[in-house]
Amino acid sequence: MAILEVNNVCKSFKTSKKSPEVEVLKDISFTVEKGEFVTLLGPSGCGKTTLLTIIGGFQRATSGEVLLEGERIEKPSSDRGYVFQNYALFPWMNVEKNILYSLKFSKMSKEEKKKRLEELLEMSHLKGHEKKYPISLSGGMQQRVAVVRALAPYPKILLLDEPLGAIDLQMREHMQNELLQLVKESNSTILMVTHDVSEAVYMSDRVIVMSLNKGEIVADMRIDIKHPRERDSEEYIECVRELTNNVKKAFINKVPVSV
Ligand SMILES: Nc1ncnc2c1ncn2[C@@H]1O[C@H](COP(=O)(O)OP(=O)(O)O)[C@@H](O)[C@H]1O
Ligand SMILES: [Mg+2]
Repeated sequence: MAILEVNNVCKSFKTSKKSPEVEVLKDISFTVEKGEFVTLLGPSGCGKTTLLTIIGGFQRATSGEVLLEGERIEKPSSDRGYVFQNYALFPWMNVEKNILYSLKFSKMSKEEKKKRLEELLEMSHLKGHEKKYPISLSGGMQQRVAVVRALAPYPKILLLDEPLGAIDLQMREHMQNELLQLVKESNSTILMVTHDVSEAVYMSDRVIVMSLNKGEIVADMRIDIKHPRERDSEEYIECVRELTNNVKKAFINKVPVSV
């Protein structure tokens, strides 16, 4: 069953009163099944964040619609967990308060919130760090706080915008495993944005490739390799190769012609 439906989404921006509108997304349609881990992959500037924020309800599509369990998305809501590109933790709140913030408007009782907090600290291996402030945490720990904060109110879907973007290369593979474990444990439906082919293959059930041509979907690829995935296995390498070829299509018409 499709939990998320993106139907013919278009988005244009006007940067100033005099300038013409620029169309960033044109007629984008796809669905996400319940429990699926889907990745939106594409070059920088192809409209990934714009699309994710429309699904998050932070901005409206110019035309088209997004449905979550059949209901049209109009504004942000706790049924969608969102992890921003730079985590966006509140620096003046400790780990515990950052996580509890997303339960501020929840109907849970004080006891239920406390129980949920304990569960999330356990799940993210942050037990013992709950009184620390974000500035004193490593990048990986900050990322885990951001993810469990988004998971706290039991969202129907978790939206992740380049959740490992700020992590350096050496740590990245390790963090991919941690993130994967964290989201699998939560049994969530995931829509993640990345521009990293290997990350997409390692983590996703399905990869949707967006192009610089108004976000046009140039490939929709299922990754049928069982977990844990071996990065040096033949099927993995083949998958990376196939996806890399698909990503090349994402640049078509946009690569400057050399003279
Ligand atoms: N609020 C905005 N006003 C004007 N242009 C925008 C706005 N938001 C995004 N854009 C433009 O839309 C394009 C896609 O941006 P974005 O969605 O951030 O891409 P990505 O996340 O794939 O790198 C870029 O050219 C960007 O400059
Ligand atoms: Mg982006």
